Amino acid sequence: MTLAPNSPDATAQLRFPTGFHWGAATAAYQIEGAVREDGRTPSIWDTFSHTPGKVHAGDTGDVATDHYHRYPEDIALMAELGLTAYRFSISWSRVQPTGRGPAVERGLDFYRRLTDQLLEAGIQPFATLYHWDLPQELEDRGGWPERDTAERFGEYAALAAEALGDRVAVWTTLNEPWCSAFLGYGSGVHAPGRTNPRDALRAAHHLNLGHGRAVAALRAALPDSAQLAISLNLHQVRALSAEPADREAARRVDAVGNRIFTGPLLHGGYPDDLRRDTAHLVDWAELVRPGDEQAIGAPIDVLGINYYTPTLVSAPQHEAGLSPTEAARHDAHGASEHSPWPGSESVLFHLPPGGTTEMGWAIDPSGLYDLLTEAGRANPGLALMVTENGAAFPDVLTAEGAVHDPERIAYLHSHLAAVHRAVADGADVRGYFLWSLLDNFEWAHGYAKRFGAVYVDYATQRRIPKSSAHWYARTARHNAIDAVHDQG
Ligand code: FCB
Repeated sequence: MTLAPNSPDATAQLRFPTGFHWGAATAAYQIEGAVREDGRTPSIWDTFSHTPGKVHAGDTGDVATDHYHRYPEDIALMAELGLTAYRFSISWSRVQPTGRGPAVERGLDFYRRLTDQLLEAGIQPFATLYHWDLPQELEDRGGWPERDTAERFGEYAALAAEALGDRVAVWTTLNEPWCSAFLGYGSGVHAPGRTNPRDALRAAHHLNLGHGRAVAALRAALPDSAQLAISLNLHQVRALSAEPADREAARRVDAVGNRIFTGPLLHGGYPDDLRRDTAHLVDWAELVRPGDEQAIGAPIDVLGINYYTPTLVSAPQHEAGLSPTEAARHDAHGASEHSPWPGSESVLFHLPPGGTTEMGWAIDPSGLYDLLTEAGRANPGLALMVTENGAAFPDVLTAEGAVHDPERIAYLHSHLAAVHRAVADGADVRGYFLWSLLDNFEWAHGYAKRFGAVYVDYATQRRIPKSSAHWYARTARHNAIDAVHDQG
């Protein structure tokens, strides 16, 4: 439908609930740099990025956006953008360099200064305890496939809570444990780069258990005030057709992509079909000990959903699709000969129709709407937040020193419209965090993919807000978007 410019609908606004959090998200290894300062020791991402061939162009997070030194400037930028919340992650290797023992005060001091200054600027700090950067020493002792790593994570959570508990509005235990487990230990495109489906499944359980231990530690340290969350990259899994074989493919991918986490976290335990699909790879009875599922299922306050693109799958008879191994070769997270989908060996993956971002991810805001409404229905009483959403496009800095990124604005507008529609249809969505505040180290893609609302000139570390940053600032200030997006 085309609307005349003076039609009343063309100026209508989609208003968000009062108190809706307008945020941006980042992660420690992607922005901080200063990898050897104040007692920090290597994490698995330091090791991985320094391993030849693992990251595009040999890029590393050694300097990244130098946020460790430039955080006051970055907080000023956030204030300019009208952000009311900022989601960052804490580097475990700064706070507890070996992954055990007492905290390092100099490491904690950075987060004390950061959170103090955020609060002074009127921005609520949302802290994520783990965004993929395991201390290397814990990986050397076996990493997430080992149960002890979950216990270590609980101890680290207690240290962080004690030091920062009075300043953090919402604590997120883990960011996207699916990526940690299945890209880190399955397809190997992320640190630590292992390619063993058994390790990947064991890692998933121990990440869940680590979450449970962290929730217990945070509740003990902050009995009255803790608002606790986890951020999952729930896959909006769609079957290519309504035929039973395609639906069966979708069921398998949903099991190992989503319900391996939401099962024990929110619905009492691991689903039987997941255990069956993966029984040839891991001994669930040995892996999951009595009491584990109860610990993992301790109540949380917020479910964070990270969404970028839907996942379209079919049964093997569709010739056009890619097997998990072929799909892994084209995986936008990084190419691999190994599948990140244990138990889904026969499933084919398809590119959903429509346009794509520079990552090759299909642009489909209906996936976000479906995730939010389904998560709302499945978890009545649990607040939801979009803890990541955004897009990479090939941004160009003009001679006048500006970055025009209409495609990113269109992406953000369409996804915020989907969030608004989900709220109107009953989903209790309390906030939206744009990924990302700044261009940064995009994991296996290094600095080649820019997701920021703010452009970073890596040669000078100059920050230049893109047009999308100005658009987002207006959105945050008005707590609303235009009902119809003017593509001009
Ligand atoms: C998510 C990660 C985030 C960033 C975006 C593009 O999976 O949580 O760090 O890489 O993708």
